[in-house]
Parts: sequence; C-alpha cells; structure tokens
Amino acid sequence: MRSKREKRQRYQESPYALWGNRIPMASTWRKSLGHPETVPLLLEIGCGKGEFSVFIAEKRPEWLIIGMDRKAERLQTAVLRAETHRLPNLYFWHGDAQTLHSAFAQGEVQEIWLNYPDPYPKARHAKHRLIHPRFIWQYEWILSEGGLLHIRTDDEGLYYYAQEQLHAASWSVEQAVPLLLDRAEESLGVKTEFYLKRGGVVRYLCAKRPVRRLLEC
Ligand SMILES: C[S@@+](CC[C@H](N)C(=O)[O-])C[C@H]1O[C@@H](n2cnc3c(N)ncnc32)[C@H](O)[C@@H]1O
Repeated sequence: MRSKREKRQRYQESPYALWGNRIPMASTWRKSLGHPETVPLLLEIGCGKGEFSVFIAEKRPEWLIIGMDRKAERLQTAVLRAETHRLPNLYFWHGDAQTLHSAFAQGEVQEIWLNYPDPYPKARHAKHRLIHPRFIWQYEWILSEGGLLHIRTDDEGLYYYAQEQLHAASWSVEQAVPLLLDRAEESLGVKTEFYLKRGGVVRYLCAKRPVRRLLEC
C-alpha cells in the first residue's frame, strides 16, 4: 500500500491535478484550463475520492467540473479515476475552502456541491462545518446570479443546521428533502465513499444565492 507521501506525489504527477502554481488565478479558471468563457463551472467542495465529480463530469460534458479537497492523499484516488475515464472537463484542486474568496472572482462559479460534509457535531467545532457562516459568505461571493448550492448529508443535525444558517444569510432554500428515496438520490449523483460507509438516510438541500443589493450611499 502507498504511504501518504507517495499518494500525494502520485496525485501531483497527474495532468488532472491542480496544485501549487498549476492553480489558476481568480477570474482565469476557464481560460487557464483551455475552456471557453461561456462554459458553466461546477465546484464540488470536500470531494474526497472524487466519485461525484467524475459522475457529474460525465453527465454534464458541457460544464467545467472542479473537485476540491484539502487532503491530497484522497485526491490521488480521484485523479486515478479521472485518468481512467479520460474526462476533458474535470480537474482536482488541492486546496482549502477557507480560501475560496481569493481563489475565484466574484460570480465565477455557477454551482457548488457539498456531498456528505463532515458534520462536526460538537458545538465547539461548528466553525469547521462547511456550511458555517465563515464559508457561506464565500459561497455567496463566488456564485453567479441565480447560482445554486446543493448539499447531501446523512446527518440530521447538519441538515437542520444548514437550513438555519442559509435562512440567516438570506439564501432562498428551494428544496429541503429530509428523506431522499433511492431513485431520486441516484438521479442527483452516485453513492460516494462516505455514503456507502455510513449508509443512512440521505437528506438533500438546494439553496439559491441571495440577490445582491447595491449599497445605498
Ligand atoms: C466526510 S468526507 C466526504 C467526502 C466525499 N464528499 C464523499 O462523500 O465520499 C469530507 C471531506 O471534506 C474534506 N474537507 C473538510 N473540510 C474541508 C475544507 N475546509 N476544505 C476542503 N476540503 C475539506 C475532507 O478532507 C474530506 O475529504
């Protein structure tokens, strides 16, 4: 079995890997990756081993798909999958969601997905939840007008916490499904590693970014 260091190295060697100076500058993602400016961009945050990103890149060949995760050893499996599928519209970015506001220009992204994010159930760890206000404002910043945030979780606490936080930040929750049946789930995306490990009830939220108001002088 490969060590963490070897996995990181294998990830970094892949043409599907975006790390270090291969990460595009804000506002240049499409151009740097050789895609027309009109192509919509979907970002999966905390993509782990990349099952969903690969699934959605195949389902939406006209989109540019970026899977990102802060753990390079998980991304190694993701790039191996991308290499097998030879997808021209998919990349895996080694990064941290805390930096989204500087990684993308305002409105550069059309859709964000969070698949089974860590629930961090203890209140003192709440700031690590990917749906904490310190991330929500960044999602609002990088999403374009009408941009959507999709969340799938098996954690009841996180499902209700996410709704509270989104309402508090003036997002419009378009869909809140406390029990997603198998067929509906399959149409949204594949079962990822974490879903298969825990295998509980799947809950789904879809929320629209608030409309930006011009500041009054
Ligand atoms: C529970 S796993 C889910 C992985 C995958 N979405 C799945 O369903 O199999 C959560 C993932 O989010 C990543 N993650 C957590 N916080 C993050 C952050 N601030 N920035 C980037 N990735 C993060 C973790 O490294 C981990 O791979």
